Amino acid sequence: MPCLTIAIANQKGGVAKTTTVSELGELLSQQYHKKVLMIDIDPQASLTSIKGDMNDIIINNRKTMSNVMLRQSSIDEIVIPIKTNLYLAPATLVLSDVELNIINATLRELILKAALNSMLGSYDFVLIDCPPSRGLLTVNALSASDYVLIPIQAEYQALLGLQLLKNTVANVQSQINKELKVWGYVVTMTTRTNQSSDTLNEIKKDHYPILSTIPRSTKVSDAGVANMSTHEFDTNNPAGLAYLKLSEKLIGLEM
Ligand SMILES: Nc1ncnc2c1ncn2[C@@H]1O[C@H](COP(=O)(O)OP(=O)(O)OP(=O)(O)O)[C@@H](O)[C@H]1O
Ligand SMILES: [Mg+2]
Repeated sequence: MPCLTIAIANQKGGVAKTTTVSELGELLSQQYHKKVLMIDIDPQASLTSIKGDMNDIIINNRKTMSNVMLRQSSIDEIVIPIKTNLYLAPATLVLSDVELNIINATLRELILKAALNSMLGSYDFVLIDCPPSRGLLTVNALSASDYVLIPIQAEYQALLGLQLLKNTVANVQSQINKELKVWGYVVTMTTRTNQSSDTLNEIKKDHYPILSTIPRSTKVSDAGVANMSTHEFDTNNPAGLAYLKLSEKLIGLEM
């Protein structure tokens, strides 16, 4: 079975990129028994903070995505097992310096792709948590991926800037990675407000599909703290069920 690589990207901050990676990673590995690698390519390192042990990484000076992006380490060397079938390639704040340092590197857009190609560990899914920018780290993620999944928060400002992200995706498709496909949108933190339903209606008019809508729920962050998917944390929670539906669709993509 070939591995599917999915970049979770939006240059807008706080739209639930990291949450979506964590939820899908948990569900694919624990419910579907797929082998999943989550890659943190965001210098904020939020994914590493919720899934990994940041103290251990810093105190023991462990290698991270910074070393991979500087071509000093392979991904296999930095991967941390989180639980059965779930693995993390961690990041720290140092990655923000690295982004500046690789600007003059040869084939700078393809560093991550080359690292994934030479990975020995075989995974069913690789999920890449992108930073809220359209810079070189996001371009590396898009260049290494089969699909991009775009989380959008259900609020009026959500659609501003979406065209910019689409331009970045189109540039990567035409110049670097012809295989890249836009999988679609996951509309996050929906509420029973006009703002939320108006935004949803606007996104429905777009060319790309809405794959799932995730209601706002405090259980989502509680589950993150408990190192679980929302569905595992609270079986009947609507946000957890919506993420479960999204993970089912991801399994469908594999076929
Ligand atoms: N469905 C939800 N209901 C309630 N809170 C949510 C939901 N999804 C995400 N959140 C919360 O919203 C905040 C932002 O989410 P997250 O960190 O995943 O966004 P992000 O897009 O990765 O942000 P950044 O752009 O900074 O990387 C977090 O506190 C998270 O717990
Ligand atoms: Mg994030």
